[in-house]
Amino acid sequence: MAAEEKVIVIDFGGQYNQLVARRVRECNVYCEIYSYRTPIEQIKEMSPKGIILTGGPNSCYEEGAPTYTKELFELGIPVLGLCYGAQLMMHVLGGKVKKAPVREYGKTETFIDGSKDALFAGVEDKTIVWMSHFDYISKVAPGFEIIAHTADCPVAAAACEDKKLYAIQFHPEVLHTVKGKDILHNFVRNICATSGSWRMDSFVENTIKEIREKVGDGKVLLALSGGVDSSVLAALLAKAIGKQLTCVFVDHGLLRKNEGDEVESVFGPNGNFDINFVRVNAAERYYAKLKGVEEPERKRKIIGEEFIRVFEEEAKKIGTVDFLAQGTIYPDVVESGLGGESVVIKSHHNVGGLPDYVDFKEIIEPLRSLFKDEVRKAGLELGLPEYLVFRQPFPGPGLGIRIIGEVNAEKVRIVQDADFIYREELAAAGLKKLPDQYFAALSNMRSVGVMGDERTYDYAIVLRAVETIDFMTAEASEIPFEVLQKVMSRIINEVKGVNRVMYDLTSKPPGTVELE
Ligand code: XMP
Repeated sequence: MAAEEKVIVIDFGGQYNQLVARRVRECNVYCEIYSYRTPIEQIKEMSPKGIILTGGPNSCYEEGAPTYTKELFELGIPVLGLCYGAQLMMHVLGGKVKKAPVREYGKTETFIDGSKDALFAGVEDKTIVWMSHFDYISKVAPGFEIIAHTADCPVAAAACEDKKLYAIQFHPEVLHTVKGKDILHNFVRNICATSGSWRMDSFVENTIKEIREKVGDGKVLLALSGGVDSSVLAALLAKAIGKQLTCVFVDHGLLRKNEGDEVESVFGPNGNFDINFVRVNAAERYYAKLKGVEEPERKRKIIGEEFIRVFEEEAKKIGTVDFLAQGTIYPDVVESGLGGESVVIKSHHNVGGLPDYVDFKEIIEPLRSLFKDEVRKAGLELGLPEYLVFRQPFPGPGLGIRIIGEVNAEKVRIVQDADFIYREELAAAGLKKLPDQYFAALSNMRSVGVMGDERTYDYAIVLRAVETIDFMTAEASEIPFEVLQKVMSRIINEVKGVNRVMYDLTSKPPGTVELE
């Protein structure tokens, strides 16, 4: 996507790298993440308005630690180093970094010593910041002055105002840093002298134009799952090229209750868009393939393969298409190691491998530069309903991995109904914040109960709800007991085949979010 003004983040492997980029975009400035291995020539060619160096797990004085050429600080472009990035800046420019006598971690009182005209404009003399470091800057590089300190850290921030170089030991991108957003705003907008013209509506408008130019009168095929990314992509393509788009929606019978119909009501013939929409009701096919299969990975594999088969059949009916659209978003790009440094390869991310089962000329990925919440904003901008745009993550294999053991139509019905009640009650509970992901799963356990005068021998539903930032680690949510009790009593009363409800307290690790 064309963006005239950008700030780049150079990634040294810190856990908050995407958050940094996200915060820059919140300042209405376009931002991209690059690995520290990116050559300086490439950085120069981009002529960024500013550069931010992220944190990272290494010690910059150790041999082989990630580094960057000194030239980066001589380009006349403002640079902000965060944590490891700050230490590296000092190290490269002639300061000293050592193992700290006291490790600082968590919310820390920080005293501003320097000018309040630039980086710290609007920040009180005493402010709370988020620290997380073993090493510290024991001596600033020549030309720098100390602009903040804490009780344990003599250099919480340093600056060389003339060259617009700033090093801060703490993490402004983390919300615990009370004035973090202001500090980043000061850097990105004022120090880097950006205009802040990057907005979601301009993204939608520009991308529609770009899609039209690229696609011409060609045909585009999209596998629509009903998830946020593919739905927003479908809406974007629909606005751009209308009937040249065909969406194939495979209902594998493992969706949440009513989900298939909801997708159809938005994208189908009576929906909001004028496109070709093909819904394939393949539930029976999937259940037949999954009959007798209990092993989780085997189930995942069958569900994945069957999807390819169904999609391929539909694609054949359509014939050759010019473009295959994919809902890849920026975190997929970064996590697949193509963008930043924190390489976490997830097998279910659709980056990298081109499907060879559909006859097409080129892949298009119009959402490739967006973060999840930006995708959501674009979705609202495009007029998609909120329930679709704010949908929680739902795994590709769907309820197939929320039913422990063999999957069949009866178990799908049970888990769909229980999950529906759970979601309905959580929505009605008026919680300050909904869990980041929550769902009902079906344990493969049957146990004895009593209903009226009758003895029952039925299934146990497992309720799951987690708090997480990145889904790599998670904690069970603290849902008020009375809410859980209400969910339990409704499920037992309303869902035939269930006589026990359990709440899963397991954190990740050692558990996973899904049960399989
Ligand atoms: P786990 O269970 O791995 O889940 O802790 C972390 C996040 O990933 C989602 N998830 C999947 N998504 N295909 C997907 O598209 C999968 O096979 C899959 N397994 C887990 C899960 O819902 C959670 O958000």
